[in-house]
Amino acid sequence: MRRFVVICPEATASDDFLLDDLPGTSGRLDVGLRCMRAALLFSHGIRRDVVVYVVLGGGPRAPRVVRVSGAAARFVRPDERSLALLAKKVLASRVDTAAGGFVDVRPGVALASGGLEQVIADLGGATAYVLEESAPDIRDVADLESRDVAFFLGDHLGFDDATRAHLGAMGVSAVGVGPVSVHAEDAVAIVSNELDRRDARRHTPR
Ligand SMILES: C[S@@+](CC[C@H](N)C(=O)[O-])C[C@H]1O[C@@H](n2cnc3c(N)ncnc32)[C@H](O)[C@@H]1O
Repeated sequence: MRRFVVICPEATASDDFLLDDLPGTSGRLDVGLRCMRAALLFSHGIRRDVVVYVVLGGGPRAPRVVRVSGAAARFVRPDERSLALLAKKVLASRVDTAAGGFVDVRPGVALASGGLEQVIADLGGATAYVLEESAPDIRDVADLESRDVAFFLGDHLGFDDATRAHLGAMGVSAVGVGPVSVHAEDAVAIVSNELDRRDARRHTPR
């Protein structure tokens, strides 16, 4: 199982944004949604072994987390407007998340009240990594493909101090995807490609 956790400290946790101006009205929820697309979708298909968490830290309803599981999600479309509409409906739903944990809003899509701690409680035994510029190259990490893995990444602003402290206290290892600071969704695509290549090698008879 591959998991991606996108931390968006300013992205709105409510449905109070405009589909016609997503970047300008949502605290850059668009960054989280593009990461969602990169993690979950390949050309004409959805990755059934991927779970994406978008941690929303902006606005009066924050913090909340949207979780999408490829195993159960249906009709996830690749264009940003459709993903924004999905986020709007999920964030507007009246599901009761007060008891804690994730509550299903529609197949494969769940919502939780809370922030990073909700995600960490949901990761099970996954080995966690934080994607950081200048960290050791993911290509040199052994056995990634045979593990249940979770990757944390920042939005356009990178990680804030609280997130860095939280992940640091967990002892999460940092990995990099190359010498250039790329857009968050591109970092997701590079990690996915690395894991795809390793999986293909594992399943190719010698
Ligand atoms: C656009 S970057 C953040 C840039 C931000 N200005 C900063 O200085 O942190 C968004 C996220 O993508 C990931 N990322 C970008 N380039 C990376 C790289 N070369 N290696 C690993 N992660 C990377 C990191 O998680 C980063 O927080």
